[in-house]
Amino acid sequence: MTNGDITVLMDETRVFKPSGDFVKNTNVQQWMNKHNIKTLAELYEKTKNWEWYWEEMAKELVEWYKPYEKLVEWSPPWVKWFLGAQYNIVHDALDKHVKTWKKDKLAFIFEGEPGEVRKITYMELYQEVNKLANALKKLGVKRGDRVGIYMPMVPELPIAMLACAKIGAIHSVVFSGFSAYAVRDRVNDCEAKVIFTCDSFYRRGKKVPLKIQADEALKNAPSVKHAIVYQRTGDPVDMQEGRDIWWHELVKDMSEECETERLDANDPLFFLYTSGTTGKPKGIIHAHGGYAVGTATTLKWVFDVKDDDIYWCAADIGWITGHSFIVYAPLILGATSVMYEGAPDFPGPDRWWEIIEKYKVSILYTSPTSVRLFMKQGEEWPKKHDLSSLRLLGSVGEPINPEAWIWYYKNIGNECCQIMDTWWQTETGHFVISPLPVTPLKPGSATFPLPGMNAAIFNEQGVAVHNAGGNLVLTHPWPGMLRGIYKNPQRYEETYWSRFKDIYLAGDVARTDSDGYFWIQGRADDVLNVSGHRIGNSEVESALVSHHKVAEAAVIGKPHSLKGESITAYVVLKKDVEPTDELKKILREHVGVEMGKLARPDEIYFVSDVPKTRSGKIMRRVIRARAMGREVGDISTLANPEAVDQITKAT
Ligand code: PRX
Repeated sequence: MTNGDITVLMDETRVFKPSGDFVKNTNVQQWMNKHNIKTLAELYEKTKNWEWYWEEMAKELVEWYKPYEKLVEWSPPWVKWFLGAQYNIVHDALDKHVKTWKKDKLAFIFEGEPGEVRKITYMELYQEVNKLANALKKLGVKRGDRVGIYMPMVPELPIAMLACAKIGAIHSVVFSGFSAYAVRDRVNDCEAKVIFTCDSFYRRGKKVPLKIQADEALKNAPSVKHAIVYQRTGDPVDMQEGRDIWWHELVKDMSEECETERLDANDPLFFLYTSGTTGKPKGIIHAHGGYAVGTATTLKWVFDVKDDDIYWCAADIGWITGHSFIVYAPLILGATSVMYEGAPDFPGPDRWWEIIEKYKVSILYTSPTSVRLFMKQGEEWPKKHDLSSLRLLGSVGEPINPEAWIWYYKNIGNECCQIMDTWWQTETGHFVISPLPVTPLKPGSATFPLPGMNAAIFNEQGVAVHNAGGNLVLTHPWPGMLRGIYKNPQRYEETYWSRFKDIYLAGDVARTDSDGYFWIQGRADDVLNVSGHRIGNSEVESALVSHHKVAEAAVIGKPHSLKGESITAYVVLKKDVEPTDELKKILREHVGVEMGKLARPDEIYFVSDVPKTRSGKIMRRVIRARAMGREVGDISTLANPEAVDQITKAT
């Protein structure tokens, strides 16, 4: 089948419908009842009036100090939302809750990797944030100043973010797995006045020193006047006189009350750096008002968060998923979140399942890469635990292979939890294409653009195509939309807005099927071209993973004199499977059967791991370079640099 510009070779036809009882009680169904909307089709139709929809959601979910005068001002490619409103996201995340019964509700249940537990109520969180906000003020941090945060997954990380936001400072979190050089570059780009860090933290039973990395970064970061150091492990660290301050000493005598700064709704809340096609990371800007409405709305609808849920987004706060869906949106909704410091398989492969059983987690949000890791370890691990508290599952970060989807559905969700496959980006701030809990699901499809959002597939000529593949675009602004790239408006315009006039280019290729379901195929530069047919790398990977002996696969294209590109696959086998030449043949034929002869890999190599970023994305660029014998360039963002050598050895 040739669909527009993309050749589709894998067709997934299974459909999974939620039970009627489940649907009845969902937030979205109740909202539909209130608005006298009878069907899902009617909901999508009615919310095509996106201005109306976002206005409704803003009324429900946020409180302004001064109401807005105008909902949106769209002067492509620049947008403002809730113009004229006075606002601060911290009011919705904390201040409003402490005036209600929620003050005693748990905001976070934190479990450190060594096993200690901290339960933090909304009131306690509010007080800690206030103390730190007062301390920041005392250090001279003001509205509009930038603050770098280089911290691991401990509650002090969200506390630091919220304290900055409270006083109108802009935070820029750098993932704790990044190297000193990555920290230095980001801190210098945003000219941070202060940074937060800690002595060290726990990961896989070891202590990972962080302050040493921060010290290295600060050797060449002239804007930074102070480093605030949180004591996580008690490891000895060097403290530089005049610059470094212990967190606990700084907040000791601070008041537990601090007035929240009344900002303009369009004031920046944070910068978060993300990679583009060039080496220099982009500082993506998000603003208070729109981001609050967009994140809170989509979390409430997609994960159906209710007062008695125990919600666990198992991402790291160093990425957008953690910013939006561990920190801001759950707090605005007044939810109780689990937060875990360490590795998923420490001390055993069932650490996550133990956590779910212990805290009766009802919503779990994770990534396909984690699901494939669990698949590799085997279903005996989740089987040891009572996971019956779960009622909804989620996936993010990359296309989820139908086989991983099914494994997740059966072994974690006990065949009764819908899987919310949420497509979105650092730039979008919140979910864009995602099922609602009431949506019939097709494994591997993120289903439809959410109410209030509009996505489309454009061919190379900029024409919208249906039941076809092409460039994924967003056709009107949305509340959580990025406000630009810090100090680089030109790059903002070129990256997202230069291809199609006034249309946001997501940089992904995707297709819709005959029912209008969206299927994300991967980044635009991760598409193979074999004999003039474009095939998504991730589709071949999915086909390989659908074989019962395969745990994970990475697929790249290599230049080929006849076909344009040939397909090379690096395959990680499941536990105890023998890597034989016979199996290579079987897998090649398996892909042939799943997708057609065209997609059969020309070469297959067995490896024990494939290079991935810390957020779990397979680094095909790195694999391609190694496979071609080229320099791999900067691999500081890799979670497992040792996997690169495996590619060299294998090839
Ligand atoms: O390629 C898409 C993929 O991740 C990219 C965004 O990456 P990042 O900004 O790091 O944010 C990740 C967390 C939101 C997208 O352009 N992606 C994200 N979610 C999905 C996905 N691909 C397929 N399916 C998804 N659900």
